[in-house]
Amino acid sequence: MKPIQVGLLGIGTVGSGTFEVLKRNQEEIQRRAGRGIEVTMVADLDVARAKSIVGANVQVVDDARKVIANPDIDIVVELIGGYGIAKQLVLEAIDAGKHVVTANKALLAVHGTEIFAAAHKKGVMVAFEAAVAGGIPIIKALREGLTANRIQWLAGIINGTTNFILSEMRDKGLTFDDVLKQAQALGYAEADPTFDIEGVDAAHKATLMSAIAFGVPVQFDKAYVEGITKLESQDIKYAEQLGYRIKLLGISKRTAAGIELRVHPCLVPAKRLIANVEGAMNAVMVHADAVGTTLYYGKGAGSEPTASAVIADLVDITRLHTADPLNRVPHLAFQPDAMSNLPILPMAQVVTSYYLRLRVADQAGVLAKVTGILANADISIDAVLQREAGEGESHTDLIILTHDCVEAKMNQALAEMQKLTTVLAPITRIRKEELN
Ligand code: HSE
Repeated sequence: MKPIQVGLLGIGTVGSGTFEVLKRNQEEIQRRAGRGIEVTMVADLDVARAKSIVGANVQVVDDARKVIANPDIDIVVELIGGYGIAKQLVLEAIDAGKHVVTANKALLAVHGTEIFAAAHKKGVMVAFEAAVAGGIPIIKALREGLTANRIQWLAGIINGTTNFILSEMRDKGLTFDDVLKQAQALGYAEADPTFDIEGVDAAHKATLMSAIAFGVPVQFDKAYVEGITKLESQDIKYAEQLGYRIKLLGISKRTAAGIELRVHPCLVPAKRLIANVEGAMNAVMVHADAVGTTLYYGKGAGSEPTASAVIADLVDITRLHTADPLNRVPHLAFQPDAMSNLPILPMAQVVTSYYLRLRVADQAGVLAKVTGILANADISIDAVLQREAGEGESHTDLIILTHDCVEAKMNQALAEMQKLTTVLAPITRIRKEELN
C-alpha cells in the first residue's frame, strides 16, 4: 500500500527530529503502522535551511497553505506554535479534511474546544501527544491506559526549564536570577522565558491533562497560575530541613464540589520519587481508584523525545484513519456528548496544606499570637521551625507547616498575621502536597 503522506508546517527542532526518526526507524514504524509513513512536503519560511534538512526528494515551500491545499497530503503536522497563525492553519487543515498532529499546548489549552468540535464535525483526528511532557506518553496513558479507572488526581513536573532552575538553586544555593541566566546560556530557557518561569507553559499542559483525566472541557482561563520568580533560596533550604523539596507542580484534582486546576511552587516530601526528578526532566503522577498511583518519567522536551510523541500520533492516525469516526478514541478520552460540567474551582475553595515563613521580632508571646490566629481559623499546625536569632539580631524566622485547610481560611489568617506589629516583613506562603 502507498505510504501515508505527511506535510510538516515548520521544520525547527521538533520537525527535524520527526523527519530524522521517521527515516531512521521507517521499517520498524511500518511494521507497527501496517503502512509506510512519509514526510513528502514541508512548509517553512527558511526554505534553504528546510531543504538542507530534508534533501531533494521532499517538496519544500514557504507557504503553509500550499501543504494544506495539496490533495495528496493525508496528515498535517503543525509545529509552528502560538495561538495566531497556527490556529488558523489548524482550522483550515481540518476544514480541508486533513488529520492534524500538533505539539501546540498553548493553542489547544486555549482554543481546544473550538478545534476539537471542528474536527469532530469533519470526522478527522487531532492528535497532541507531543503537547504535554514531550516524549512521555502521558496523553496515551490518561486517555487509554487508565480508561478503566476513576482518576482522582494528577500532579506533574511538566516544565523542564523551571525544574532545572529549582534543581540548581537547591544544589548550588544560587539565586533564581543567576540560574535563569545559566539556563538561557545553556539553551534550556527561551530568550523570553516568561511562559516557562511564570507557570503558563505548565498550566497549558495541566489544562490538557485535566480535561482528559476528568472529561471536562479545556478551560485554561480558569486555571490558577503562579510561577517561580518570587521563590527564594532560603525557602528551598528551610523546606529541605523539614524533609521537603520545592517543585513547580501542575495539579488537577477531582473533588465533590468541582475540579482543582492549579500550577504553583509546591513543597513535596523529599522521599517521594517525584521530588527526586532533577534538571530538565519531567514526571507526572496519576492517582486512580483501581490502579492506585502510577508515575511517568522522561524527557519533556528536545528534538527526538518530542518527535517520538509526534510519530506515535502519526502511527495512531495511520492505523485508525479508515475506521468509522464514531469508533475512534475520543479527543478528550470521553465521548463528546458525555462530558462533565463539573466546574473548575476558584483558588479560594482549593484544599491544601501550607509552608509559611514569617520574619518576626524575637520577643515573648510572638509565637503564641501567630499560632492563636491559626487556631482561631481552625487551621492545624503540622510542624514549627524557628531559626536561632543571629548575634545582635532582634528578629528571627518562624517556619510553620500546616495540615490541610481551605485556601480562603488561610488567606484570612495570613491577613490577620500580617497585621501583627511583631511580623516584620511580608509573609511567604508556599503550598504543600503530600502526594500520598
Ligand atoms: N519550554 C518547555 C519546558 C518545553 O521547559 O519544559 C516544551 O514544552
